[in-house]
Amino acid sequence: MQAHESGQQVSPVAGGETLGASPSGFDWNSFAADYEALGEPISRPHAEQSLGLSGVTPGERVIDVAAGTGALTLAAARAGAKVLAVDFSPGMVARLSDRLRAEGRDSCEARVMDGQALEIDDVRFDAAFSIFGVMLFPDWQCGLAEMARVCALAGAAVSRCGRGGKGRHQSSPFTTHIASPSLTPHPTPLPQGLPG
Ligand SMILES: C[S@@+](CC[C@H](N)C(=O)[O-])C[C@H]1O[C@@H](n2cnc3c(N)ncnc32)[C@H](O)[C@@H]1O
Repeated sequence: MQAHESGQQVSPVAGGETLGASPSGFDWNSFAADYEALGEPISRPHAEQSLGLSGVTPGERVIDVAAGTGALTLAAARAGAKVLAVDFSPGMVARLSDRLRAEGRDSCEARVMDGQALEIDDVRFDAAFSIFGVMLFPDWQCGLAEMARVCALAGAAVSRCGRGGKGRHQSSPFTTHIASPSLTPHPTPLPQGLPG
């Protein structure tokens, strides 16, 4: 067990070769280097805009769920937040840990963890983010509930997802639900390059 800046004790997920593989068999570990080069430039503007909308201030505790190579984590760290990045892929976590170390972000860390079952006590963070992450979980409702659970009552939970109704995520229950007329989308225009 190790202590995070938030005061939370976190432990790595006990190991298996399948860590970081989606139920469909897609292995995020082997994709980490390519994701940083090809995927992160697309997600970065969404991460930066989400961070700006959240109003996170220096010193606040942030959790980035399904952090990947760290688009949101690094932006929040550079803004002075204390970030715990979690991802179920050891390959992604290793890459992000290297980047945090290279920038000397001592109050931030990346840990292997399933976003559907966060090994974190309630109400530990001021803000919870998931950029193109929780939408991919088999149980995304649980992923959203976990984000809300670990977030302070006055905190913010922000999830970015692909657009529903068109493209790759057309049939995703997550995007269908988020696009439901009963939910009011945020009026801020999205950056270009949204997947899906
Ligand atoms: C499309 S990438 C997004 C990465 C990053 N948030 C970004 O904006 O660039 C999806 C990420 O979700 C992670 N992931 C998928 N299922 C997960 C789960 N159940 N728990 C934690 N991370 C998961 C993958 O390992 C991958 O890093």
